[in-house]
Amino acid sequence: MALRDSQKDMFEHSAKKVELLKHYLNEYLPVIGNDRYTDVVHCFDLFCGEGVYPNGGEGSPLIFARLLRSWAIRCPEKKFVFHYNDKEEAKVANAKKHIAALSPFPPNLTIRDTVLPFDQILQMVRHRVADLGKEKAFLFIDPYGYKDIKPQIIRDLMKGGKTEVLLFLPTQQMFRFSNKGTPEALSDFLESLHGGHSFPACQSIYEYVTYIVRGFRQFMPDSYVDSFTIRKDAHTAFCLFFFTSNLKGAEKMLEAKWKLDEIEGAGWSYEASFAHDLLFKDADTHPLQKLIESRLHSGPQTNAAIYEATVRAGYLTTHAVQVLSQMQKDGRIRVTPEGTRANAFYLNYAATYGADTSKHHSITIHLI
Ligand SMILES: C[S@@+](CC[C@H](N)C(=O)[O-])C[C@H]1O[C@@H](n2cnc3c(N)ncnc32)[C@H](O)[C@@H]1O
Repeated sequence: MALRDSQKDMFEHSAKKVELLKHYLNEYLPVIGNDRYTDVVHCFDLFCGEGVYPNGGEGSPLIFARLLRSWAIRCPEKKFVFHYNDKEEAKVANAKKHIAALSPFPPNLTIRDTVLPFDQILQMVRHRVADLGKEKAFLFIDPYGYKDIKPQIIRDLMKGGKTEVLLFLPTQQMFRFSNKGTPEALSDFLESLHGGHSFPACQSIYEYVTYIVRGFRQFMPDSYVDSFTIRKDAHTAFCLFFFTSNLKGAEKMLEAKWKLDEIEGAGWSYEASFAHDLLFKDADTHPLQKLIESRLHSGPQTNAAIYEATVRAGYLTTHAVQVLSQMQKDGRIRVTPEGTRANAFYLNYAATYGADTSKHHSITIHLI
């Protein structure tokens, strides 16, 4: 039977969503795999669905199972635990059948499933991630709606500092409701992000998403928060939000999303024309350049400060290097210690915050 357009849209959006999940896990699992501070990696897929879409595309539990299997084989000294859940028994059974087809799994990978409503699985997971030792947890939260999700839930899950969350929110639906008599659950959600005040009226879905990210950043100042927008056209967009307490994790996520969108890192579009429809296209100065300049105006900046500010703002360090190299070429900045090689700014994790201090390299950038 031919697919309806709405079904095709859903499959294409879902495909992009799981593609981002796949890219992220591909970037992040090797980091954890080589990290001597982590012995166990827990991955949770809390709204797992049935594993395979009716068009044959693989859903999130299969993406997890496949990638974790290969990482568990590559890192036999670490333990990996994958837990998937859905409130519908038939969906979990289906996912289980597809996952079983990927067996055998190595002994250091444990796979569990549950059939529980979100409030119950949340209690279990909260309990599990509150007390992690040499462990890390990654949660994929992909509900149909927004009603189960509250900003406080995400903040609680992040408390121990060892958890990362990838959250899908149906921002399109939320934006539509926001303009038409906001339901209570939604206004509660938005107000808690906006310090108890009513959420600003937004002209476009993109502005709306920007405010949600900003709200999360204020609500969870100890976490890195970013978004990835899956856009269909100027009026239609879906959005994934990413939360981590770990600078390295934030950078890996940025790399994953910039790989999918070489241009602005803000999202993927169905139509090439929207790739050019960038918010900042007509701005005289790129926002990252503005950010770096304003920091330098407030005083000399270390490479660690610029590195962190760049990742927090959602840009790759290669972008910051481009901005700084141009400023250096234009004679607008100088670097100490004198004699530091031109174009060398040491904007990376190993040189700034990495556990191996012998790799640290500190420079200071001054506006001339
Ligand atoms: C968008 S789908 C998940 C798709 C899946 N993550 C993927 O990428 O293939 C959302 C799933 O959440 C489940 N669900 C909805 N409300 C739930 C709740 N309160 N608790 C647990 N599962 C729920 C639905 O049964 C559905 O399978």
